[in-house]
Amino acid sequence: MSTKATPMPAQHPMLDTGPSRVEVWRMFDRIAHRYDLLNHLLSFRRDVAWRRHVVRHLPTSTNLRVLDLATGTGDLLLDLCQVKRVSKGIGVDMAGKMLAFARRKIVGTGFVRSTSLIRGDALRLGFLDNSFDAVTIAFGIRNVARVDAALEEMYRVLRPGGRALILEFSLPPSGLFQKLYRFYLRHLLPRIGAMISGDGAAYRYLHETIECFPYGEAFCDLMRRQGFQRVQAQPLTLGIATLYCGDK
Ligand SMILES: C[S@@+](CC[C@H](N)C(=O)[O-])C[C@H]1O[C@@H](n2cnc3c(N)ncnc32)[C@H](O)[C@@H]1O
Repeated sequence: MSTKATPMPAQHPMLDTGPSRVEVWRMFDRIAHRYDLLNHLLSFRRDVAWRRHVVRHLPTSTNLRVLDLATGTGDLLLDLCQVKRVSKGIGVDMAGKMLAFARRKIVGTGFVRSTSLIRGDALRLGFLDNSFDAVTIAFGIRNVARVDAALEEMYRVLRPGGRALILEFSLPPSGLFQKLYRFYLRHLLPRIGAMISGDGAAYRYLHETIECFPYGEAFCDLMRRQGFQRVQAQPLTLGIATLYCGDK
């Protein structure tokens, strides 16, 4: 079992740049009706494979209680519930309209009893300490107002030995692919996003936050500061997304 590391300056310097994340969930309510379509389109459906990759890193024990933060329209929650070892999956999100889409998807599956959706803040979870075997968050940690507070909450609600799995966008290593990817992020993605969702600001926000969010070792350090052990970063699809794993 670990003791927490001495508190360090809370936020990573890169987190003080870029657009404000305060109440950003309101923006997700505005684009909820186009969220899934744009997710699949703009990532060339890689998002589906990335979420399945997360699920493969669940702890190996049975009867798992899993919490999916910033669950949005529920795709990761549904992937988690399909794992036989998972007995309970809870999704939390601030955006009621995103949760309404999640609810509709769950109703069409056999997971109505084993899942719950709760409107709530990842920074102030209403769960007891040591309640979950795994806590996941996909493309959510970049959107919270305080990353350190979200990681602290994840750590608090995990049982000792439990696992945090964090999927987030990152940047490929420098070189031609990074240049092409930045061009895509800055010029193509916001235009396609604006055209389909009718909300240009939301897709400008996406590229601005991806470009100023700590990734790789810098993000692993943020996790270690909150006490996580055996922290690892696995770059996916040439580094445009990364899965972070850490144990309590
Ligand atoms: C990019 S979406 C990710 C949705 C989903 N996890 C996925 O993989 O598609 C980010 C989500 O984070 C939610 N969110 C932002 N801040 C939050 C907070 N403080 N607490 C809970 N959810 C939050 C938004 O409402 C939105 O649904």
